[in-house]
Amino acid sequence: MNTEFITQERDRLLDELFRFLAIPSVSTLPAHAPDCRHAAEWLVRHLERLGCPVATLLEGEGHPVVWAESPPVEGAPTLLVYGHYDVQPADPLDEWLSPPFAPAIRDGRLYARGAADDKGQVFCLLKAYEAVLDGDKRPPVNVRFMIEGEEESGGLTLAGLLARDPERTVADAVLVADSAFFAPGWPAVYAGLRGICYAEIHLRTLQRDLHSGAYGGVAPNALETLTRLLTDLKSRSGRIRIPKLYEAVERPARAERKAWKKLPFDEDAFRLEEVTAPALTGLQDYSVFERIWALPTFEIHGIQGGFTGEGAKTVIPAQAVAKVSLRLPPGLSYTKVARWLTRAVEKRAPAHAHVEVRLLHGADPVQQETDHPVFAILDRAFQEVVGRPTVPVRSGGSIPVIPLLKQGGAPVLVTGIGLPDDGLHSPNEKLDLQQLWDGIAVFGRFYELLAQNGRTGDKGKKGEKSKKGAKRRKGKKSVKREEGEAGEKGEKREKGEKREKGEKGEKGEKGEKGAKPPKGKQRENDET
Ligand code: BES
Ligand code: MN
Ligand code: MN
Repeated sequence: MNTEFITQERDRLLDELFRFLAIPSVSTLPAHAPDCRHAAEWLVRHLERLGCPVATLLEGEGHPVVWAESPPVEGAPTLLVYGHYDVQPADPLDEWLSPPFAPAIRDGRLYARGAADDKGQVFCLLKAYEAVLDGDKRPPVNVRFMIEGEEESGGLTLAGLLARDPERTVADAVLVADSAFFAPGWPAVYAGLRGICYAEIHLRTLQRDLHSGAYGGVAPNALETLTRLLTDLKSRSGRIRIPKLYEAVERPARAERKAWKKLPFDEDAFRLEEVTAPALTGLQDYSVFERIWALPTFEIHGIQGGFTGEGAKTVIPAQAVAKVSLRLPPGLSYTKVARWLTRAVEKRAPAHAHVEVRLLHGADPVQQETDHPVFAILDRAFQEVVGRPTVPVRSGGSIPVIPLLKQGGAPVLVTGIGLPDDGLHSPNEKLDLQQLWDGIAVFGRFYELLAQNGRTGDKGKKGEKSKKGAKRRKGKKSVKREEGEAGEKGEKREKGEKREKGEKGEKGEKGEKGAKPPKGKQRENDET
């Protein structure tokens, strides 16, 4: 690849990326629907200029999907490239040092909403494509671009399009650039992603807000009722109180967990610099990696209700809403967990309240081998550009379309050029410029090497991965089954049982520390 392209065109590339980032394509906010379309159109124009004979918008219920095809390259493999042009809301706005949609460079870093997730990475894929075009705007491989605008809000439009037209996922390989290096200098491929089940819990206790003096003492408070219900869904030690949840989880194989222990990881630095908390929470018997990659979570994203304006208002709120989600490791499907969550919430609703669970979106978890020969090609590209091949890891995040992409049968390479401290979904999201330039070079080399290796499936370097312990996932074991293993118990005892002071209602948590508490205890947990 002509890497001079990157140095020579630097200013133009930045100018283009700035324009793309300046479009506030927040998919979840209806007011930004025109901006989402604007970003999609920007991409179509761009792909046309890069010489794609097909560059169009695929329309569905929501924001359009960008679809483009390179000129056909006879005999060369077909690569499907995926990314998303939508972004998360930028709030809290007052925490941004420069406005989220006015891209700014400080200390070699580009700050903007979407800089890393995912517009900056989509831009890398496009510019890598540009860099490998010949004088007639012909690439070395057949490339299809599929860039959606609802990844951050559930991906329903693309899911609908793929249900109608599954042919679009047919390719020799799929490249997904929507993730990060494991650590600076350590590119990664993702063997697993968690799924998600996102819902709103609407709770009403009264027909209207009431005077808290006149009725306080008898009138049920909606915020109080909702927060009690929510905190009851998870124990103090981090165990989610939904029956059957943990038994259904497929625990990573011992070999995979062992490989995680070898990753370069400093827990204190992770806590202080990335998590920014005085202490980490969650099930203490499990490693940080297992907690963020391979166990379910229950998070409260926001609670609405009552009076939060300036000054003081003495009122008993009649209704309250919480936005919540569960992350789903392998073994937990979205539809199953949606049912379980609904039941768990309804069961906890006291007689004085009416509750309703409204599901907003969901995605199934992903688990895959990373030993298909095309992974070795990606490794070579990373090796050449950043001096190290990929390390197989998992992600705690979700990309809803990936289970659907896998249905096409091609290996799906989930990777990315971000860094762990990019601050996705946070204020001051950034992308290091060096990662941007390297990303263009890596994906450009990947396109070229894929072409040189002909059709995938025959000429890749098999075996290269096993050196890094990539072939790890021999069998799917459930948490339940593996608990009985001798080594496992030893591990648990080693760490000791630092139990929290038993509070009333928490006494059922004895079994808590194990993956699966004894039957009787569990019922206590789930029903208190
Ligand atoms: N790029 C992320 C997913 C991700 C995060 C992958 C971290 C690897 C590491 C993606 O844009 C994302 O944030 N997805 C949402 C999906 C959800 C809204 C359905 C997520 O995980 O919250
Ligand atoms: Mn993303
Ligand atoms: Mn995201």
